[in-house]
Amino acid sequence: MSGKGLFQPIRIGKHLLKHRVALAPLTRLRAPPQTHVPSEDIVNYYTQRAGNGGGLLITEATLISPMAGGMPGAPGIWTKEQIENWKKVTKAAHDRGAVIFSQLWHVGRATNSFLLPDKAQPVSASAIAIEGNDMMGNPQQVPRALETSEIPGLIKDFVKAAENAIEAGFDGVEVHGANGYIIDQFINTNSNKRTDQYGGSIENRTRLALEVVDAVQKAIGADRTAIRLSPWGTFQSMGDDTPTETWGYLVQQLQDNHPELAYLHFVEPRTTLEDVAGTSVYSLDHFRKIWKSVFISAGGYGHDLPGALKHAEETGDIIAFGRQFIANPDLPQRLQQQLPLNPYDRGTFYGGGSKGYTDYPTYEETQTASEATVTA
Ligand SMILES: Cc1cc2nc3c(=O)[nH]c(=O)nc-3n(C[C@H](O)[C@H](O)[C@H](O)COP(=O)(O)O)c2cc1C
Repeated sequence: MSGKGLFQPIRIGKHLLKHRVALAPLTRLRAPPQTHVPSEDIVNYYTQRAGNGGGLLITEATLISPMAGGMPGAPGIWTKEQIENWKKVTKAAHDRGAVIFSQLWHVGRATNSFLLPDKAQPVSASAIAIEGNDMMGNPQQVPRALETSEIPGLIKDFVKAAENAIEAGFDGVEVHGANGYIIDQFINTNSNKRTDQYGGSIENRTRLALEVVDAVQKAIGADRTAIRLSPWGTFQSMGDDTPTETWGYLVQQLQDNHPELAYLHFVEPRTTLEDVAGTSVYSLDHFRKIWKSVFISAGGYGHDLPGALKHAEETGDIIAFGRQFIANPDLPQRLQQQLPLNPYDRGTFYGGGSKGYTDYPTYEETQTASEATVTA
């Protein structure tokens, strides 16, 4: 690793990044709901955020199979057509000198039968629903607990998707093990009441995460494999009796068995998706001490840029930015040159067309537009 700091180079896998400002995985729901094929607008969105290159882009959560979730508008990576269109995204990113990873997603219980093939019941670690209603206002559905015999099939789906991602030209994959989706549902005591080898002890609840990482890295290489974790997350009714011990064990296992992984990506505890610069006694420091290689930290840094710079100096982390990268396609340049940021529009985060998706201007475009107004 080179010197620390947001604009210091860092190596992930075989790639040397020029800076440590990464695009966080951001679900934007702009793919056609029937085919889950990345559209031209999706290609355009990532091309814009590849900017002048040198940085890491992590895609939005991408469904690994038809049963992985029914989120309308989420892209997938299991059909030929999906793979072909992802090739356009990876080519555009590479042409601009960026490194791009695909975030692999199975939502588990965070969906509804009417969104799944043959109206199948959603699956999870245990038959426990998320509290309250889903994004569309429907009551959360009680899932079915996966049979132990079905788990190898789930792992296989992750492996196949990882192989497809490599075929599509991605530099690697980030297994989505955070934010209350299937892997997280197995990890947390709130959602896992199983009595087989995937439930109960910490070792058992983290088994799925570790088996998925192990199988994926065997298939595509450790230096192209990563995982995202949210030890302090409460989104989608997550909660664990002993987070420090649970994720501490998981990270220690990854350190002991897979120290060559491309990176580990963590969601900061202070993250709420509200605009609150929350404070918390919780911290990722415990896990940062265990993991000796590339550490990505995400959550709230866009609202505290001096804090982000300081954090990167102190830890050497890559920082993933979400909401500010939505509104600022040229975010790395803006941060480096301390240029003002475009405000983001929360109303266009999920679904819709190009508005609030590919129409945010770069700083240069803003300047050109205002010069044109002055001379008109
Ligand atoms: C619109 C939106 C979509 C998101 N989609 C994903 C996703 O697909 N996968 C994921 O791991 N996190 C997702 N997140 C969380 C972000 O990756 C990030 O952790 C969060 O926005 C906090 O970072 P920020 O404060 O820089 O926005 C999403 C957040 C937002 C606002």
